[in-house]
Amino acid sequence: MDASERRPYLKEDMEIIRTPEEMQERARALRRAGGTVGFVPTMGFLHEGHLSLMRIVRERADTVIASIFLNPTQFGPNEDLDAYPRDFERDEVLCREAGVDILFYPTAENMYAADASVWVDEEALSSVLCGAARPGHFRGVCTIVAKLLNIVQPDFMVMGEKDAQQLRVLRRMVRDLHFPVEIVSGPTIREPDGLAMSSRNKYLSPAERAEAVCLFQALEKAKALFAEGECTAEKIKAALHEIITVTSGEVDYIEIVDDETLQPLELLQKPVLVALAVKFSGARLIDNTVLA
Ligand code: PAF
Repeated sequence: MDASERRPYLKEDMEIIRTPEEMQERARALRRAGGTVGFVPTMGFLHEGHLSLMRIVRERADTVIASIFLNPTQFGPNEDLDAYPRDFERDEVLCREAGVDILFYPTAENMYAADASVWVDEEALSSVLCGAARPGHFRGVCTIVAKLLNIVQPDFMVMGEKDAQQLRVLRRMVRDLHFPVEIVSGPTIREPDGLAMSSRNKYLSPAERAEAVCLFQALEKAKALFAEGECTAEKIKAALHEIITVTSGEVDYIEIVDDETLQPLELLQKPVLVALAVKFSGARLIDNTVLA
């Protein structure tokens, strides 16, 4: 198969905009023109999960805008910012293939003034799960997404369900700060064995990659137990622990929480989010499912 057969569509005229001022000016012009603008924010090193979100926008909007910005403020001092994978040339081609009209690709200097002193802090949903393990993470996410929304001014933004807590925190931010934007969610895209796609999967050794399917297997177990009528959170969590602990992965958390408040539940009586985070030597992976 030659390259043209493999890549049937390439958006030759995709614009790349590098400054917030230029992007904001372009966004204003798009709003004046009256079409619908959809937006996918990313940190780059794109995979099928991101591209599926871009395709959701392509189907619903007149203009597809994506951003690539590796946001330093959502990484803690001992986290993987420096090692986070980057490949802008590859990402650019993938965006063209996904039908992106405008790619916003700013620098950290352009996004944060050296003396920046305003932050967006969500205080309820951010304190649990990944927020407990990564203090300050959601403050960084909320701040950058608030900035991006002010710059891009989309009618709707599409986010992946894999980042379940992020999705809920950002919905709360949009509600509480009256951002005039709809948040649309896209399903988690998985590898053939069930591992959720993530830019961080690249860090796994071949042995860890093989074991990493345990997150998906654990979630499948939770679904099966729930379908059999098991409603005790402790019992379900214990079964999930058993699946993870036979691997080299270290459980960061396995939680069953209220799907809306993210508070832990003892009994599964209403929609619940089963969320897990597992650390391998190469990467900390997260995954989740909703049981309703
Ligand atoms: O999910 C991500 O990739 C990031 O957290 C986001 C939403 C692009 C903000 O930097």
